[in-house]
Amino acid sequence: MASSAAFLLLVVVAALHACLCHGQDGGGGGAAVAAIYSLGDSITDTGNLAKEAPPGAFETIKHLPYGVTFGRPTGRCSDGLLMIDFLAQDMGLPFLNPYLAKNMSFDHGVNFAVAGATAMDPADQFNRTFSMPFSANSLKLQLRWFKDFMKSTYNTDQEIRERLRSSLILVGEIGGNDYNFAFLANKSVSEVETMIPAVVQTIINATKEVLDMGARRVIVPGNFPIGCLPSYLTAMAAPEPSAYDSTSCLKDLNIFAAKHNTQLQRAIAGLQASYPDAAIAYADYFNSFLSLLKSAPALGFDVGSTHKACCGTGGRYNYDERLMCGIEGTAVCADPSVYVSWDGIHMTQAAYKAMSRLIYHGRYLQPQILDFPENNGQT
Ligand SMILES: *[C@@H]1O[C@H](CO)[C@@H](O)[C@H](O)[C@H]1NC(C)=O
Ligand SMILES: *[C@@H]1O[C@H](CO)[C@@H](O)[C@H](O)[C@H]1NC(C)=O
Ligand SMILES: *[C@@H]1O[C@H](CO)[C@@H](O)[C@H](O)[C@H]1NC(C)=O
Ligand SMILES: *[C@@H]1O[C@H](CO)[C@@H](O)[C@H](O)[C@H]1NC(C)=O
Repeated sequence: MASSAAFLLLVVVAALHACLCHGQDGGGGGAAVAAIYSLGDSITDTGNLAKEAPPGAFETIKHLPYGVTFGRPTGRCSDGLLMIDFLAQDMGLPFLNPYLAKNMSFDHGVNFAVAGATAMDPADQFNRTFSMPFSANSLKLQLRWFKDFMKSTYNTDQEIRERLRSSLILVGEIGGNDYNFAFLANKSVSEVETMIPAVVQTIINATKEVLDMGARRVIVPGNFPIGCLPSYLTAMAAPEPSAYDSTSCLKDLNIFAAKHNTQLQRAIAGLQASYPDAAIAYADYFNSFLSLLKSAPALGFDVGSTHKACCGTGGRYNYDERLMCGIEGTAVCADPSVYVSWDGIHMTQAAYKAMSRLIYHGRYLQPQILDFPENNGQT
């Protein structure tokens, strides 16, 4: 396990600077998606945390090099676009504007995801045996925003149902931060495992609420193989080779993430049975990421850098919690498009694009419930 000092630093630095993130009609097919509504964390936040954070907080994501590939910082936790952007683009829709950017168009959906958000409310987490550095934007709050938005935009529940009938709703990825914060608080893998049922139930309960509002096409993503992330590889570096699997990732953490995903998939199967008129899919972030790692050279990634942060400094994984991406003294790799990891926690635009294609156009969306306009997303 990790040095505890490293963990403490990660908590402090993350809290001060980083964006720790760690977010149809009957049976699918046919109907065009007119809007996307998204709940989640930094994996899908397109600017909410940057809008919400007061001056001085989370400065790194508000400035270059965040956004460097896009041309300017956008509040996204990457060098450029996220999976949700490629998904929207491939569906022929504009990028999703963040809910807190009140002046922007929400004609084709709203992004309620906030970097750092947890599934559970802070008060419910781990029986309050540790405190969350920043998790006011839980799934419950995002759901309230979603309901407020729909109520203020449409006149009746029936109108809301009609709108949601032609919409796609993403519930997650969320929950990753519940675990991140527990690990940061020195909880062991077996202790953090005890949180899984409540985290999964929180996600499922939120999904039910969305379905009860009238949603008929819903995607619920699982967790990444977090044992492959430079942040965890650094914080939990183990001396013994047996701690690593064949992809050089930390076994225990990947097994942990897989347990979350197994429970989530089982619960989604329950939802599918309870809502036979809805198309509900599990997005397999875990196996699509492992697939990306395995085919990294073919996908254009530098095979020697798949476990290294593009933006950061130091150590085997180019990650140091005291010198995270965006802090003075860190460097950005020459070509983010050949890196998988952007800042040690989040992926590069290139990796998100590859993931989006693997999942939404491939076999990692289970079942496939999306239709894309011809030729979109094929490149
Ligand atoms: C919103 O738009 C109005 C009118 O265009 C403008 O005056 C205002 O500054 C904008 N607010 C924000 C937060 O951008
Ligand atoms: C929280 O407390 C309950 C009851 O005391 C216990 O069963 C459960 O395992 C605890 N959960 C965690 C995550 O500690
Ligand atoms: C983690 O454990 C170490 C020593 O065991 C301690 O110094 C540190 O404060 C702990 N961190 C947290 C967040 O509790
Ligand atoms: C999920 O919803 C059920 C039924 O309303 C409730 O009893 C349960 O406490 C909820 N669980 C969580 C984790 O929110």
